[in-house]
Amino acid sequence: MTLPACVADYRALAKRRLPRLLFDYIDGGAYAEITLRRNVEAFEAIRLRQRVMRDVSNICLATEVFGEALSMPVVLAPVGLSGMYARRGEVQAARAAEAAGITSCLSTVSICSLEEVGAGVTRPPWFQLYMIKDRAYMADLLAIAREGGTPVLVFTVDLPMPGSRYREVRSGMTGGLSTWGRIRRAFDAGRRPDWLLDVYLGGRPHTFGNLVKAVPDARDPSEFWVWVKRNFDTAVTWDDLAWVRKHWPGPIVVKGIMDVEDARSALASGADGLVVSNHGGRQLDGVPASVEALPAIAEAVGDKMTVLVDGGIRSGLDVVKALALGAKACLIGRAWAYPLAARGGTGVAHMLELLRQETITAMALTGCTDVHKAGRDLLV
Ligand code: FNR
Repeated sequence: MTLPACVADYRALAKRRLPRLLFDYIDGGAYAEITLRRNVEAFEAIRLRQRVMRDVSNICLATEVFGEALSMPVVLAPVGLSGMYARRGEVQAARAAEAAGITSCLSTVSICSLEEVGAGVTRPPWFQLYMIKDRAYMADLLAIAREGGTPVLVFTVDLPMPGSRYREVRSGMTGGLSTWGRIRRAFDAGRRPDWLLDVYLGGRPHTFGNLVKAVPDARDPSEFWVWVKRNFDTAVTWDDLAWVRKHWPGPIVVKGIMDVEDARSALASGADGLVVSNHGGRQLDGVPASVEALPAIAEAVGDKMTVLVDGGIRSGLDVVKALALGAKACLIGRAWAYPLAARGGTGVAHMLELLRQETITAMALTGCTDVHKAGRDLLV
């Protein structure tokens, strides 16, 4: 089999390997998936300036975010359930990120726990927090993260409840399947021998590592979604950031900001950074692409807090465009989830190398030699 040449190739491989339910969970978005598509299309629509004769023999991608050295301005975004795409998937991905000189962010709803991922790498990953009603549970989780040396907390605020994701309803991810639907789902999984051997048999235990006391079993995702709907705190407000701050002395990054007013509130509430994000088009369908929201937010708060962006980043060209529009670094979601599902950590490592080479090429052809100098002047 030839090596995939891009994220789209990994997506095709992941589609063949994963049970339909899991592939649709990664690939899909909310409602009619308008924002999901727009995230990608908006990047495609951005025009770069071609510059020449500027000595591009030495391109520097290295940067620093919250004191964390990154060999390129990219972080693996939190992606739930990754341990169901590949055996102990979160550990494999964190190792690939570390080998590439970048870092990753572990989801609250990961299969591998904070402790397991922490033990698999030398540099602990960032941790992403969802607000659960049971604050004592949250406090314990934050204590585990602190003790494990987690450097950065990413507080996701755009999911008080899951968006309406039609593909997940159809596939049975969010419950309500008939007996016939369940039989079809089991039959579909039975047709994926690679996944069965690697994950279903070899990747146990299938539990939510950080939520093991609350939702022990990750094998039937529909039960998990029922739990999410009951236990995620829909009453969260900016005042709750003070609670998070009380339990987290390090940097706090608020993820899921699409509005300048909200960005100002995040700043006023004491956040150190934010991720301009619409959750990869999985929450409120019909909002603009995150890269469309980025410039105004970066202009409003960019000199006072660290502005990151995610959504639709599939290539090195997209990384350069995001930096040009005011992001300090990018998070990538599906761009690592597909390779993980297709080829495990080897796939993630390969994709990151492709991304690095593409970013270097894009920088060179726009005549920019240092990511710190990437600005609006790179764009037409
Ligand atoms: C996500 N995302 C996400 N975000 C988060 O804060 N916690 C989580 O558990 C998850 N889980 C998750 C699962 C899957 C399958 C996907 C695709 C995404 C959102 C993620 O962090 C990020 O915001 C988007 O993935 C960015 O968009 P792209 O790069 O996938 O286009």
